[in-house]
Order: sequence, then C-alpha cells, then structure tokens
Amino acid sequence: MTSILPIAFLLLSWAIASILSPIVSSTTETPTPTPWPHQFHSILFMNYSGSLQKIDLWYDWPNGRNFNIMQDQLGDKILYDLEWNNGTSFFYTLDSTQECKSAQLEVGILRPDWLDGANYLGQQTVNGFLCNVWEKVDFIWYYEDVVSKRPVQWVFYTGRQAHVMTFEVGAVLEDAKWQAPVYCFNKKNKSLDVSGTLRASVLRRHSQGFCSKK
Ligand SMILES: *[C@@H]1O[C@H](CO)[C@@H](O)[C@H](O)[C@H]1NC(C)=O
Ligand SMILES: *[C@@H]1O[C@H](CO)[C@@H](O)[C@H](O)[C@H]1NC(C)=O
Ligand SMILES: *[C@@H]1O[C@H](CO)[C@@H](O)[C@H](O)[C@H]1NC(C)=O
Repeated sequence: MTSILPIAFLLLSWAIASILSPIVSSTTETPTPTPWPHQFHSILFMNYSGSLQKIDLWYDWPNGRNFNIMQDQLGDKILYDLEWNNGTSFFYTLDSTQECKSAQLEVGILRPDWLDGANYLGQQTVNGFLCNVWEKVDFIWYYEDVVSKRPVQWVFYTGRQAHVMTFEVGAVLEDAKWQAPVYCFNKKNKSLDVSGTLRASVLRRHSQGFCSKK
C-alpha cells in the first residue's frame, strides 16, 4: 500500500504540471505596461532630492484634459497645472496673488498607451510591492504592481520620484473645477515656473513619441 503513494504523487504532480504548463509559458512572455485607465484620480507623493510634494492627479482622456494640483510639503501655495489635449496649458494659483501662465504646446496630454514600447527590466520590490519594471527612452522608470497592475511609482531620469498613494479608476473631477480663472485670460503673468510638471518633462522628449499629436 505505502509503495503506491509515491507513484500517486508522481502522477499527480505530472498531471498538475501538464495543466499548468500553458499558463507557465504565457507568464514567461515579456510583460507590457497596463495602459492608463481613461479616467482616474491619483494622489502622488513626489520626492526630488528630499523635497517632498503632493500632487492630485486627475487624468481624463475622453474629455481631453489632465490636471496636476500641486503642493509642497507644509507649503501654503497650491499650484494648478491644467492641460488640454489641444495643446493649451494653464498654470495658476487660486489665491490673492492671482498668478497665471498659459502656454501653447505642440502636443496634447499623455495618451493612455504612452508607455507602449517601454523596455522590460524585470521584477523588483519597491515600497513593499513586487513590481514589474520598465524603462522608456532613458527618461522614465515605471513600476507596476505584479498582481493588481496598478502603478506603484515612477522615477524620472532627473531622480524625481512619484509614489502612487491612491489610484481611483473611473474618478472624474467635476466640470466646474476645470475652469481656469478669469485672470488667465485678461493678462499675461509669466512669474510661474512650469518646468517641474510631467508634461513639461515629457515635452523635452516628445520627439520620441510620448504624447498624442494635436
Ligand atoms: C527622497 O529621495 C532621496 C533620494 O533622492 C532619499 O534619500 C530619501 O530617503 C527620500 N525621502 C523620502 C521621504 O522618501
Ligand atoms: C483649448 O481648449 C481650452 C478648453 O476648452 C480652451 O480654453 C483653449 O482656448 C483651447 N485652445 C485653443 C488653442 O483652441
Ligand atoms: C504676476 O504675479 C506676481 C506674483 O504675485 C506679481 O508680483 C506680478 O506683479 C504679477 N504680474 C502681472 C503682470 O500681473
């Protein structure tokens, strides 16, 4: 009786192995980044050489708009970076300083598939999550949770890190919040620096095909 047991185990493991083998071979294919959901809200903690910043990111592809609402750690100034897919960008405050800078760019907002063509680098545990890691044009390193497929972090070639704190798929900011203030339209105020935003960074590399053509 006891001698049958090892054989039974052998047969069982052979049976399991043959069932699993198609799955195993498909998981050994090179993973590709999950396209961004067409609408989501995400809270990002940014770290640039120890300077911390919070970004409220509202990505809204069907409506052709993207919002970064930015605040430095313990900062009392909130910066609004509103981007339209027609290439128009508004960068402003909503406090008494009434600062606004607008820009007309050659490209629209990031496409949901903007990570297409990224190079797979393997798996790494970051912030406690096992991630698939990709790199695109030596510009961005992108970390996606292996199980949930949600982004965990991305890191720019400058060392600037974005840590994804929340990722609410389908969340949409109400239309009224997408209205740039009136002083964006009646005067030119160039006092704001737009260099830190994702789109601004991407723009410097847009020839590599990151953004949608307008
Ligand atoms: C921020 O990034 C620096 C490296 O640039 C690192 O030494 C530091 O620990 C990070 N701080 C936080 C709060 O993640
Ligand atoms: C792009 O769209 C925004 C929002 O509708 C608008 O304010 C802006 O004037 C448009 N820009 C151009 C160049 O049409
Ligand atoms: C732009 O905003 C800055 C900062 O509040 C202010 O000092 C400056 O006078 C403004 N410029 C114009 C043209 O309104």
